[in-house]
Amino acid sequence: MDANQSELRPQAVSGKLRLRAVVTFLLVLIFVPCVLSPLTHAATPITFDEKQRLWVLQSGEATYAFGVNERGELQHLYWGKRIRAQDLTSAHSLPEWASFDLSTTTTPQEYPGWGAGLYVEPALKATFANGNRDVVLYYVDQKLEANHLEITLKDEISALFVHLHYRVYPDSGILERSAQIENRTSEEVTLESAQSASWTLPGDGSYRLHYLTGRWAGEWQLQTETLQIGKRVIESRRGSTGNDANPWFAIDETDKTDETHGPVWFGELGWSGSWRFTIERTPSDQYRVTGGFNPFDFGYRLSPGESVETPPFYAGFTDGGLGEASRILHRYQLEQILPGSPHPRIRPVLYNSWEATEFNLDEAGQMALAEKAARLGVERFVVDDGWFGERNNDHAGLGDWYVNSRKFPRGLKPLIDRVHHLGMDFGLWVEPEMVNPGSDLYRRHPDWVMNFPGRPRTEGRNQVVLNLARDDVKEYIFSWLDRLVTENDIGLLKWDYNRNWSEPGWPEAPFADQKKIWVRYVQNLYDIIDRLRSKHPRLEIEGCSGGGARVDLGVLRRVDQVWPSDNTDALDRLTIQYGFTQAYSPHVMMAWVTDVPNGINGRVTPLRFRFLVAMTGSLGVGGNLNKWSDDEIAVASKMISFYKQIRAIVQDGRLVRLVSPMESEFSAMQYVSQDSQQVVVFAFLHSQQFGRSVPLLYLQGLPEDAMYSVSTIDNGSEEHTGKLSGAYLMHHGIQLRLRGDYDATAMKLDRVQ
Ligand code: GLA
Repeated sequence: MDANQSELRPQAVSGKLRLRAVVTFLLVLIFVPCVLSPLTHAATPITFDEKQRLWVLQSGEATYAFGVNERGELQHLYWGKRIRAQDLTSAHSLPEWASFDLSTTTTPQEYPGWGAGLYVEPALKATFANGNRDVVLYYVDQKLEANHLEITLKDEISALFVHLHYRVYPDSGILERSAQIENRTSEEVTLESAQSASWTLPGDGSYRLHYLTGRWAGEWQLQTETLQIGKRVIESRRGSTGNDANPWFAIDETDKTDETHGPVWFGELGWSGSWRFTIERTPSDQYRVTGGFNPFDFGYRLSPGESVETPPFYAGFTDGGLGEASRILHRYQLEQILPGSPHPRIRPVLYNSWEATEFNLDEAGQMALAEKAARLGVERFVVDDGWFGERNNDHAGLGDWYVNSRKFPRGLKPLIDRVHHLGMDFGLWVEPEMVNPGSDLYRRHPDWVMNFPGRPRTEGRNQVVLNLARDDVKEYIFSWLDRLVTENDIGLLKWDYNRNWSEPGWPEAPFADQKKIWVRYVQNLYDIIDRLRSKHPRLEIEGCSGGGARVDLGVLRRVDQVWPSDNTDALDRLTIQYGFTQAYSPHVMMAWVTDVPNGINGRVTPLRFRFLVAMTGSLGVGGNLNKWSDDEIAVASKMISFYKQIRAIVQDGRLVRLVSPMESEFSAMQYVSQDSQQVVVFAFLHSQQFGRSVPLLYLQGLPEDAMYSVSTIDNGSEEHTGKLSGAYLMHHGIQLRLRGDYDATAMKLDRVQ
């Protein structure tokens, strides 16, 4: 595109001219012939029609299409149920709406720059060295290789380039988008907003937005609301993903969609720093979701020749309701995102001693717990916080990553050896990004924490945040972690992160680069984990942030499992886990059985209920085994042994959320093995009004004529209850024998014909 393209800019016109534009647009819609050039191959996931300058991306059940319009803008055309590429025609800008909403604003662009009278959310906003703040992006060229398409756009005047990346995962139905912004001018350009993508929805429905909110010990609360005119923002300004909102959305059509049916557009971001989604419904009922780096306090200076890459934004469409949207995401995480994908390792049953001992740990106590855990059938023993430095409470020690010699006078080796001897592998807690002012590290390097010079450093849990944007801090963290894992046979690091940012200053950086901390910190965090994992390929990591405050697809590329919440009360967990599975796979969802009264809320629930709730994800035990009775130990051993039989179905199968715990006192989950031969069902009744019966439970998605041998699990023992057909299980339903408060049951169905 060259400079005189500016002449093509939409002008404010009115009256007759506007009418003519509307008529022309309608004629174009009716008469443009639906022909695609021979370049198009229906079987390929991405097709390009050179003549019409039109791209069609086919992924799973969905088709996504865009083209270059007559002005040279990249214009969105379609996102929804699969249609043939031949049915789509070239892009034509939409008419303005009077002189107030110019065509720039009414035409849905794939990646709009803030310029030429754009009032919808921009994907890119920049300030140039000469004072210009106008960015208008036009198509330059494309590169298409199998499932990957790169489209290059350029500002109409300056040499600011944007490379849009589209990756199609044809089987899973996911489309991945990101943008690389490149400064080829001879002067600096500062970006004030750099989004990963704008997603346009068909503008003809009444839409509902589903999103996840939370707070410490109350994460993953599913919210639903009708989208009103205006901009709805969900975001984190915390420096990390955060627990008050999660970078996931699902939008469906009011009255058309539920858990099992209807259209859903959904997406999630791969970024563990501050992020923002702007979900927009314009007064003309156009809908779009724009997301990427949070523009709040954002300022990314690009020197001549420099570029920056936005996080990946993954999205999909299904006509199969919210349940299918989740299954598409779960499958995608298993096949493409998690370490070890497409076959991430099945999660071992874990014991973590945190709730049993907190900071009062020592070698003898941990060994005693390890003996008991091994007897239960636990496969991994994890020592949590308190093993290092002067860490006797949360006031000191973070930063001093040497073994506490009073608690472990012989070092960690004897304990690790004992754990191995007992047939388990060993896990250890770390919180590498934090430092207590009461630590040797802070006394040596007070300048290593993020700060604004001369201003107080706000503490949270008595700790401050190391500035990982600094390369020396990054190298220091990598080197002690590398040493720890090299010197000790560690199978799992539980990587914690117990507060969010304050005073996000980086005084050592050049003034104009100091706000890059929002991006560089996260890139360096990823770099540390990536190097550690590639140097220690057997090492696994559990992502934790005071519970589930840092779960996103950026983290999940690097960790094998996550801790969804410090709240281990089984009843609260039902809704927490229900929300979690909207966006993330049960494979990564760690769930422990802990003691009662629960340490968080004092609630007392039976052991069977606690076990079955935890068994709907990746099972762990976190109670004080020294206090468990023989009966409890016996039940626990049987439950764990049963879990081992079904865990592949739970962790890697297809989850069907049969009955929501948010709607009544009764809830149920169904998991179907990948080969469809086995089904596991969990059902929970948390309270029962006297005389009220438990509703029939209807299973879903089974072949009608298949026969299943059904067993019920009570306290871990299987009881065969006969054979039932798929049709019976789905249409007649099962009458469960649940009664009273906090009752729970599990069923295993094996296909016999
Ligand atoms: C956080 C984690 C807990 C535990 C403690 C230790 O709160 O979420 O699981 O590790 O830190 O201090």
